[in-house]
Amino acid sequence: MSTPSLLILPGDGIGPEVMAEVRKIVDWFGAKRDLTFDVSEDLVGGAAYDAHGTPLHDDTMARAQDVDAVLLGAVGGPKYDALDFSLKPERGLLRLRKEMDLFANLRPAQCFDALSHFSSLKQEVVAGLDIMIVRELTSGVYFGEPRGIFEEGNERVGINTQRYTESEIDRVARSAFELAMKRDKKLCSMEKANVMESGILWREVVTRVGQDYPEVELSHMYADAGAMQLTRWPKQFDVIVTDNLFGDLLSDLAAMLTGSLGMLPSASLGAPMSNGRPKALYEPVHGSAPDIAGQGKANPIACILSFAMALRYSFDQGDEAARVEKAVEAVLADGVRTADLLGEDGTVPVSTSEMGDAIVAKLDASL
Ligand code: NAD
Ligand code: IPM
Ligand code: MN
Repeated sequence: MSTPSLLILPGDGIGPEVMAEVRKIVDWFGAKRDLTFDVSEDLVGGAAYDAHGTPLHDDTMARAQDVDAVLLGAVGGPKYDALDFSLKPERGLLRLRKEMDLFANLRPAQCFDALSHFSSLKQEVVAGLDIMIVRELTSGVYFGEPRGIFEEGNERVGINTQRYTESEIDRVARSAFELAMKRDKKLCSMEKANVMESGILWREVVTRVGQDYPEVELSHMYADAGAMQLTRWPKQFDVIVTDNLFGDLLSDLAAMLTGSLGMLPSASLGAPMSNGRPKALYEPVHGSAPDIAGQGKANPIACILSFAMALRYSFDQGDEAARVEKAVEAVLADGVRTADLLGEDGTVPVSTSEMGDAIVAKLDASL
């Protein structure tokens, strides 16, 4: 196989800080496992706007289409709040997702044993938690037309449209069923079929796809009740499939079950490319965290675990992905903590870079 290509887009705020730690892991694989990547780096979000006046240059878009996988840090920040909507950093990320057609966003929420006491929920509620949220990522209210702010009589109206075609629901449902087949064979689909026609269609199509997966136990839940159940007893779930907006909200909620938003990775997958691998972009669930950017406080684990997902889903290196995940687990078991993983117990937090180094040391120890 030729050297796999990886495009790194650090982005804004803590994005470059956490990505610097991922680079250490990528370099480690080259040096110690003979697993070398053809790494290139480019700008996205506010950083791209500052350099080019656009949150995603066409050349960067073309490179993203061309590589085996993209790894993204985070975009956005208060500096860009006043920009025209079309130029905002977030538009760059949304363009990547849309043009690469990354319709299935896998957001696993796993509670590491060493952190089970740290969640804002009771330890017995989260200990051992391992769920996977599959969020539809390229349609729904994020992209539906009509959209915009319009004049209506003597006032303005803001419009976004929730829209799903049967084929859009079908393909993300299939991704979720396939994942469920490899896990505990339980899938819960969340929508609001009680108030939204798109929800009625969603439920109908997911049920139909389910006929192709008779071994998977399928259930349906209204998304508001789903949010309640995720905090009441999250271990009732294995895989959850839901739309773009509900998936955004529910995955931030799930992040806090694991202790910190700084822990949650994600993989955004599209259709298979000519080499059989899915088009893919990997990114932490968290954002650019302007409140802590530039202070060396960010937790790099979500981004490092996103690279582990790349090893698994883009590069067929499931064992090496597990090696990274075990290294993270071992570091946490040693009590190494960035500030987001600490209460008021007086433990001194490590910096972003020290956390990266500790994980590399555990990788060394795994050989
Ligand atoms: P955020 O995720 O950036 O931050 C929410 C809170 O979590 C903050 O208190 C932050 O300090 C903390 N946090 C997040 N990641 C952390 C980490 N790795 N380590 C330690 N603490 C962490 O969400 P926000 O404040 O609502 O948004 C800030 C900006 O990021 C906005 O411009 C938003 O649009 C953008 N955003 C981007 C992405 C992305 O690029 N994928 C995702 C979410 C938000
Ligand atoms: C996420 C973020 C993005 C979203 C923003 C930054 C466009 O919140 O990836 O969860 O809303 O999808
Ligand atoms: Mn979000």
